[in-house]
Parts: sequence; C-alpha cells; structure tokens
Amino acid sequence: MKRKLVFATNNAHKLEEISSILGEKVELLSLKDINCHADIPETADTLEGNAIQKAEYIYENYGLDCFADDTGLEVEALDGAPGVLSARYAGNGHNSEANMQKLLQNMQGIHNRKAQFRTAICLILDGKMHVFEGIVKGELTKEKRGTSGFGYDPIFIPEGHSKTFAEMSHETKNKISHRARAVEKLCRFLKA
Ligand code: IMP
Repeated sequence: MKRKLVFATNNAHKLEEISSILGEKVELLSLKDINCHADIPETADTLEGNAIQKAEYIYENYGLDCFADDTGLEVEALDGAPGVLSARYAGNGHNSEANMQKLLQNMQGIHNRKAQFRTAICLILDGKMHVFEGIVKGELTKEKRGTSGFGYDPIFIPEGHSKTFAEMSHETKNKISHRARAVEKLCRFLKA
C-alpha cells in the first residue's frame, strides 16, 4: 500500500521534484490536498526550528505523517546572516531584488565572501521526528549574474563552479543544490 505523506508546502515545483525522487511507494500530499489553508507560523530563530514548527503544526492538527523544509543563505563574514531571515532580509514582502542589494551593500569592502545555502527538513513519521540537512558551500559575487532561478541565485557561485546558480540550467542547479542534498537524505531514509 502507498504511504501517504504531507509536504507542508503549496509550491508545485518543490512537490513535483520531491515526488519524482520518492517514486511510486509514496503518495505526496500538499497543504491544499489536506485542505489546510492556514498561514503556518514560522517564528523560530533557526532553520531547523522553523521546519520543526511547520511539521509539528501539521502533525498536531491533522495527525498525518509529514515533513517541512526551511532554507537560508549563511554568509561567513556576517556571522551567518541573513540565515533564517533570508526571505525578509530587506523587510517583509519577500523582495529578492531588495534582499540581494542589501546583502551586496553589507558586503562592500569585505574580502571574505564565503557563503553557504543550507536547507533543514523535519520529518514526522509515526509520531517520531527526524531532521535532515543539506548544504552547498560557495561564495558571493560582487554583482548579479544570470537570470534563471530565484532568491539569491544571481549572486551565489557554488564551490567547484564558475557560474552563479542563476547562470545554470534548473537541471544543473537541482542536482547540486542544498535542497537536493537534504531531499536525498530524506528519500534515502524513507526508502530504507
Ligand atoms: P524557503 O525556506 O525555501 O522558502 O527559502 C527562504 C528564502 O531563502 C527564499 O525566500 C530565498 O530568498 C532564499 N532561498 C531559498 N532557496 C534558495 C535557492 O535555491 N536559491 C536562492 N535563494 C534561495
């Protein structure tokens, strides 16, 4: 029998990507599929905390096996900022352009441009919690390059590459991304 698993998102792209990795044994449900239209709180001060908060919300309110994710860009010279505040670094409104400009400004004159994207996934399965992490290390450019992707992609070059995430195809980025690495760990666990 197929195992039902809720992914606490309505992002169709994320759902499709993870569903194809998980294969036929898992029926992946979105928030819409379980009739959850709430604005699930994300008020923790760590990525793990937010992923746990979202997964617990689903488990407590719907009693279903589920998982949730949270991602941030962590810059070494800024002590890990913007981190958990990545989506609203330049203020509420999820404005990627403003977020990147603020970050580039805060990095002016700083030579250490090391940064990493980090994704935390919290899975609650049969009432037990499991946390997975995916990291991609790299560095920040001094100006934006490329137009694909989203968020901070135009100013991040992953280690071992010369292109920013925004200059890569979706396929290439999705093979090496922080999210892909965290999802791989989740899938390996579910398949085991
Ligand atoms: P979320 O947890 O996936 O919603 O990500 C939070 C924020 O981190 C987003 O609003 C983006 O600003 C940033 N972010 C997450 N993943 C990526 C990525 O793959 N590339 C660039 N920025 C990202």
